[in-house]
Amino acid sequence: PAIQTFGSTFVHAGTSLIYFSLVIPTYNECRNIQSIVEKLSQLLDGILPGNYELIVVDDDSPDRTWEVALSLTPEYPQLRVMRREEERGLSTAVIRGWQAAQGEVLGVIDADLQHPPETLLQLLAEIQRGADLAAASRHVGEGGVSDWSVVRRFLSRGAQTLGLVILPGVVGRVSDPMSGYFMVRRTCIAGKTMNPAGYKILIEVLGRGDIRWIGEVGYVFQERQEGDSKVTWKQYIEYLQHLLRLRFARWPMGKFLRFGIVGFSGVFVNMGVLYVLFDILGLGLTRSLIVAGELAIISNFLWNDLWTFGDISKRQPGSRQRLKRLLKFNTICLMGLILNVLLVNLLFNVLGMNKYLANLIAIATVTLWNFWINMKLSWRV
Ligand code: GDD
Ligand code: MN
Repeated sequence: PAIQTFGSTFVHAGTSLIYFSLVIPTYNECRNIQSIVEKLSQLLDGILPGNYELIVVDDDSPDRTWEVALSLTPEYPQLRVMRREEERGLSTAVIRGWQAAQGEVLGVIDADLQHPPETLLQLLAEIQRGADLAAASRHVGEGGVSDWSVVRRFLSRGAQTLGLVILPGVVGRVSDPMSGYFMVRRTCIAGKTMNPAGYKILIEVLGRGDIRWIGEVGYVFQERQEGDSKVTWKQYIEYLQHLLRLRFARWPMGKFLRFGIVGFSGVFVNMGVLYVLFDILGLGLTRSLIVAGELAIISNFLWNDLWTFGDISKRQPGSRQRLKRLLKFNTICLMGLILNVLLVNLLFNVLGMNKYLANLIAIATVTLWNFWINMKLSWRV
């Protein structure tokens, strides 16, 4: 039976009819499919009877895996089969499967029995403890690989290190970012457009989803029993492309631009208040400067809270939370001011630079510093 999917690659929020949907992507796995379906069904019937589904997503395999899978459906009522005739690739297969899924928790497992089915129980337990995402890992606890050559181990670790350099905030969150065996709560990825290349779907989910709590479970990557791996050098190129694309998607450029605009508006607030207090009302200069500076900081804070970092403050509502952010912002800005004064002194007095050039450099540096520290502390994701 044909399964409907959505044009773009996002998972809809939907109401979940069952608890767990497990996607099994396949390409030329006709000799493995029966055995994996049998093992998974047996296992899941034990803990989630009638409350799970297995979704085979096959890319029109020449060995007719989809046909073999379909022939199993009378015996396994929780099994569904998707045959894709146009789209190709492991990562998109997983997302298409999740789009058609009805579960609250969405998972993926290889069809070739290299991922031990029993590990599913521990992964599900992690989710039940409250994890947003549970990943099987070759690098924690009892995890490992069966008998890989030195070259293969080196390539695997090399790819991981490259990922750590390009995308530390994503790749560094799990011990085995290359894992193709994991599960995630639907709510954490619903509505996010996924744009995965190649094999590394976990990196895409970590990079685009809202994932706070991650559980990891060790497992030993088994040797392939039947058929061949589909990994070629092409997957390494795709992996690199994928890392770079995610890097740019996550670059906080848009936010930095907004932060700059808000900062600029603060200059006018500062000048305006100074004019009113000092020139019109005749207050003392120091007092006027302090009030003008503080009002500019508060005005900047409000714009940043509502606009620049609006997506983040929305997740931490309430006036208490806002006040907390204001206090942090205020402190950081005051430290920025001190840094500004120190820098101008260094550049102007010590290095003999032009006063205005020195101030310009100092302002640019302090803006960067303010943005960075505030992003990390006041509007922490
Ligand atoms: N639908 C679909 N389309 N399935 C595919 C495709 C494709 O283009 N390519 C591969 N698959 C299926 C395979 O049939 C298998 O079930 C699974 O995806 C993994 O493919 P393998 O070719 O066996 O990959 P591997 O064993 O080298 O690597 C696997 O394990 C690694 C370690 O956990 C993958 O899951 C990697 O993503 C993972 O890093
Ligand atoms: Mn495999």
